[in-house]
Amino acid sequence: MSYNVLLIGSGGREHALAYKIAQSPNLSRFYALPGNPGIAEYAQCIDSGMNDFGKIKEIIKEKGIDLVVVGPEDPLVNGLRNYLFEDESLSELLFVGPDKAGAALEGSKDYAKAFMTKYNIPTAAYRSFSASEMEDAVSFLKTLKPPYVLKADGLAAGKGVLILSDMEEAEKELSQMFSGKFGDAGNKVVIEEFLSGVEVSFFVLTDGKDYLLLPHAKDYKRIGDNDQGLNTGGMGAVSPVPFADEVFVQKVKDRIIVPTIEGLRSEGIDYRGFIFIGLMNCDGEPYVIEYNVRMGDPETEVVMPRIGSDFLAHLAAAAKGDLSMENFQVNPQSAMTVIMVSGGYPESYAKGYKITGLQNVDSDIIVFNSGTKISDGELVTSGGRVLAVTALGDDLQSTREHIYENIGKILFTDSFNRSDIGLDMIFYNK
Ligand code: AMP
Ligand code: GLY
Repeated sequence: MSYNVLLIGSGGREHALAYKIAQSPNLSRFYALPGNPGIAEYAQCIDSGMNDFGKIKEIIKEKGIDLVVVGPEDPLVNGLRNYLFEDESLSELLFVGPDKAGAALEGSKDYAKAFMTKYNIPTAAYRSFSASEMEDAVSFLKTLKPPYVLKADGLAAGKGVLILSDMEEAEKELSQMFSGKFGDAGNKVVIEEFLSGVEVSFFVLTDGKDYLLLPHAKDYKRIGDNDQGLNTGGMGAVSPVPFADEVFVQKVKDRIIVPTIEGLRSEGIDYRGFIFIGLMNCDGEPYVIEYNVRMGDPETEVVMPRIGSDFLAHLAAAAKGDLSMENFQVNPQSAMTVIMVSGGYPESYAKGYKITGLQNVDSDIIVFNSGTKISDGELVTSGGRVLAVTALGDDLQSTREHIYENIGKILFTDSFNRSDIGLDMIFYNK
């Protein structure tokens, strides 16, 4: 079976997906919308907005697309799957990504919390409140111990979670959230118990009944070394991590993954796509921090290189509802990625700097493009996160050294990267 594939997205995550899909013997023609200069190595990039559903449908028909993979959550939360399948001539299309109802697991934190409570999935204790319930919200806050965790219900570009150490600050932020600090996303606010532990990201590809457990990963969210400074989209990632041993993984499957998939079915949601489960490991016990209905970025940059089997075949099987027959393999090696960002990120930064030195990088290093574009025939920076410098190796320590030796060869004005990615995992003591 061979497939014409359309990949939606433009970041490092989508470059990593494209890299893996391109290795499949089952790939026929490959398109990306809008793609990026790295993805263009494998796929024909089509310049269009990811939320222009009419244009996406036109391209699917015009190019004879068999399979669509969606990278980011936005088009899913906005109902791309629902929109395409309203057209009866597309009933045979294979589509990886949930419909609008399934995407609510990420699109509404209040919905996700209620879902977890209903299906007994371990998560932080919580209550949610709307603007008219400010007094009740403050009373509830007072029953909790600091730090206080406030979450805007809707999508807020990754900025909707606040963790505050004192009550006065928490009350002030809460009132600002209700007054529109995060737009409509903050019309409802989830207040929850603070969980302390180590975070890890788990990834599942499901056809609604069966699932493949993709390699897990840890990302590094803060801008500075030793997890200091502002939150970012992610400054690096490693896979696997030493604290997610077999016993922990089994708990995640039994207590979280299986009940999640069964819960979705009970809700009448035919979920075919990725589920990214952000977990806290609290003394060996897994708790869900959040669901996402897409892969993580930069986690995908370390997850894809570790998949040893035909990923496109798995995507097609998930979309068809046929995953139980898949022969899935994980490469036991370690993968790590370090993100090179534009100076100033995650606040304001300049774009358009020329990127040089890529030809000097060792051939086994994979450089995924996160925020780049071609300008006057040259590769230039075009985002906060610019490149994901990635390697696979027999152990994390040597992989780490190899990446850092190579990162110095890649140059652009005001580039910045963390120097401690992976270090804590090398010295991790249970
Ligand atoms: P989210 O946008 O839900 O991923 O939250 C952003 C980050 O806030 C998470 O990656 C955690 O580091 C942190 N976080 C969220 N909820 C909690 C919680 N209940 N306890 C501790 N940390 C949390
Ligand atoms: N790296 C976290 C995320 O993709 O949401």
